[in-house]
Amino acid sequence: MKIIVIGASGTIGAAVVAELSARHEVVRAGRSSGDFRVDIADPASIERLYTQVGAFDAVVCTAGKVHFGAFDQFTPEKFDIGLRDKLMGQVNLVMLGLKHIRDGGSFTLTSGLLNDDPIREGVSAAMVNGGLEGFVRGTAIVLPRGLRINVVSPTVIEESLPSYAPYFRGTKAVPASEAALGYAKSVEGAQTGRVYRIGWSRDN
Ligand SMILES: NC(=O)c1ccc[n+]([C@@H]2O[C@H](COP(=O)([O-])OP(=O)(O)OC[C@H]3O[C@@H](n4cnc5c(N)ncnc54)[C@H](OP(=O)(O)O)[C@@H]3O)[C@@H](O)[C@H]2O)c1
Repeated sequence: MKIIVIGASGTIGAAVVAELSARHEVVRAGRSSGDFRVDIADPASIERLYTQVGAFDAVVCTAGKVHFGAFDQFTPEKFDIGLRDKLMGQVNLVMLGLKHIRDGGSFTLTSGLLNDDPIREGVSAAMVNGGLEGFVRGTAIVLPRGLRINVVSPTVIEESLPSYAPYFRGTKAVPASEAALGYAKSVEGAQTGRVYRIGWSRDN
């Protein structure tokens, strides 16, 4: 398969590239690194990426920014960061990718645990992750041509703990290589409309 990984240089993205490139042709994309440059917050940039890459079998997105901060300091502009980047960036990857992806292809997006297991600074992340999971479930039942869509929701990643640990006390972390398995399952498996929770459960 020819698989575009957006966010390929990131903590999770690099592990996804390592996992998938053993078996597939992986095209790496990022805002400032990779085989191709793309800003997922800019639909014209997404359109350019797809035109440059040509036909492909799967898109994996491990990019997406949200603002973290105290609830009472949030402004419409701070919410807008997550809405434009992590939420609509990934939604637009799907919408604009439809006319370029081959029959039977797949989209795999990234959310995270914060909509089910919130932290004080994470109200925007919780909102955006919930939106992404609803989008994936809603889209899975209407995608044409045997296309599939899933979202991976990792717990906090071990490699990110040097900066994230104070926000995630008591939360189990997993290495990025374990999160990468969720992406492999989505791309190489047969399921659609799924939220793959990696390293955490809704019962905790
Ligand atoms: N790390 C965790 O513990 C964790 C846990 C759960 C969920 N998540 C979610 O997983 C996603 C990735 O996290 P991460 O820690 O792997 O991030 P990261 O290490 O900061 O890497 C982000 C990657 O995305 C690219 N990128 C950033 N903004 C972009 C944009 N607007 N357009 C295109 N590419 C862009 C970056 O490329 P350049 O460097 O080239 O700009 C980089 O390759 C995020 O949505 C995050 O919320 C992370």
